[in-house]
Amino acid sequence: MKMAHFLKTLCFIPLFFTYYGFTQSIAFGKSDGILKNPNQPYKGGWELTSQNSGVSAMHMFIFPITNKAIMFDSDTFGPSQIQLLSHDCYDEPDCWAHAVEYDIHTAAVRPLKISMDTWSSSGGLSANGTLVHSGGWINGGTSVRYLSGCSTCHWEEYPSALSAPRWFSAQQILPDGSFIVVGGRQMFNYEYIPTEGNFNVDNFKLPFLRETTDPYENNLYPFVFLSTDGNLFIFANHRSILLNPTTNKIVRHFPILTGGPRNHPSSAMAALLPIKVHDSNPNRIRAEVLICGGAKPCASRLAEKGIFINALQDCGRVEITNPNPTWQKEMMPTPRIMGDMLVLPTGDVLMINGAKKGVSGWNYADDPNLTPVLYQPESPKTQRFTELMSTTIPRMYCSTAALLPDGKVLVAGSNTNYYYKFNGVKYPTELRVEKFYPPYFDPLLDTDRPSIMSNTEGKKVKHGQNVEVKFELKRTNINESNVRVTMYSPPFTTHGFSMGQRLLVLGISRLSNVGSEIFRVDVLAPPTAEIAPPGYYLLFVVYCGLPSEGIWIQIASN
Ligand SMILES: *[C@@H]1O[C@H](CO)[C@@H](O)[C@H](O)[C@H]1NC(C)=O
Ligand SMILES: *[C@@H]1O[C@H](CO)[C@@H](O)[C@H](O)[C@H]1NC(C)=O
Repeated sequence: MKMAHFLKTLCFIPLFFTYYGFTQSIAFGKSDGILKNPNQPYKGGWELTSQNSGVSAMHMFIFPITNKAIMFDSDTFGPSQIQLLSHDCYDEPDCWAHAVEYDIHTAAVRPLKISMDTWSSSGGLSANGTLVHSGGWINGGTSVRYLSGCSTCHWEEYPSALSAPRWFSAQQILPDGSFIVVGGRQMFNYEYIPTEGNFNVDNFKLPFLRETTDPYENNLYPFVFLSTDGNLFIFANHRSILLNPTTNKIVRHFPILTGGPRNHPSSAMAALLPIKVHDSNPNRIRAEVLICGGAKPCASRLAEKGIFINALQDCGRVEITNPNPTWQKEMMPTPRIMGDMLVLPTGDVLMINGAKKGVSGWNYADDPNLTPVLYQPESPKTQRFTELMSTTIPRMYCSTAALLPDGKVLVAGSNTNYYYKFNGVKYPTELRVEKFYPPYFDPLLDTDRPSIMSNTEGKKVKHGQNVEVKFELKRTNINESNVRVTMYSPPFTTHGFSMGQRLLVLGISRLSNVGSEIFRVDVLAPPTAEIAPPGYYLLFVVYCGLPSEGIWIQIASN
């Protein structure tokens, strides 16, 4: 069953038959490896790209255009494995760096100074490509920081921009390009990040956050997503609401998601599923949320005693634009807590990192889940999950993952100890960085990959505008139904939650053959800022499930 489905999504059969136009036996020649081993389709691969990133990547973010990764944890975690440059450490108790800029091609690192503590903070990509970053611990709680992706950039920091300290809060960009920051420890409220240099004196109460806390505070890092109608879906513990950020009123309550708490420290994974922007009527564009894993209600209490029970194995999927929403349950192949959920350029969802037992926190989990899982949201319900190639490196508490412009996935971090510990502990602080190659990197399909040739890198487009993308593909003709153009907004990732992650599947208005093995696809940019907030997106052409490398485009502010 699973194999048949893999073939279908990659549309092997029409692909080899229409292109080669040979007889059946010859056409099968090229895909030999796959078709002869129906039980062993390509399940992805792993590459160790760095032995030492200097700091453990509790938070990770990829900058648009420069494609630099930034990785950081907290400057209260003692010595790291990389020092600040001397001119940055004059006012530091020690000279250890806790943030680095990481080159995704060479693995070179550049230390960055942190002034106000960034432990368990939140962030998001702004309309102009800057990382806007909020909260943290102690003196960092009310901070807002700005960082650009240039080779000499450092944080600009505003230590008292927020009205309340935000530790374990969630941040989301809004249609007007501003940001909301929701919750934090003992913060049953939210606020909008003030413009740079200004500060908030007050915030908006959100009793829902008080109602959903419990003795283990299982509503931290609430899952916040901007729906296609401009409302915010906020999920905390096992309940969820839709909040109108213009009127600050709750407009919908969702049914309870049963099974156990889903937010930190019972850290499930959550993502907005790909949004199909095919309809010219924005009111008909649906949005769905998927939440997987988490912990049983008693798991935190048992973890304190050193007893680690199985994490949750179920997922809940809900259409947040439906006025009568219900949760549809599904089962993952294995239990998972503290995993990362990334939406791939194809529209499939990757579940990676984390553990099978316990909860989030220092030494509160065991049995690393080394096997990523692919979830195909458009497949029939019984055929959505596929286990992929396992890694050998445990990625426990505070590990991260990020989609790269070439479609690979950067995997870093894991530190389940206070301070960095490399000896005498079951799960040492992890500074190795890997890249995961999703199944669309099947070496047998390399020549079938589309390659974008338009010189549109960094191009600004307006909502609803026609965008023309030229690409190369070794075909004489292609069927439009096998082509997909997608746009990905890079998230800020920490504690298993990728804030601001969004994949849009664009409507194709025209596909034409404009040269030898050269095609032009015309797509419509998303119609509204509710559907696509302003900022940089990676645009991919996907042919038969094989994505091109992405190019950056910028959706202009209205
Ligand atoms: C970029 O956007 C941020 C956040 O809105 C703003 O504070 C900053 O001034 C902008 N930078 C430039 C160069 O316009
Ligand atoms: C393109 O693919 C669709 C869906 O598989 C099929 O219905 C249609 O006939 C194909 N068109 C051509 C011209 O082959």
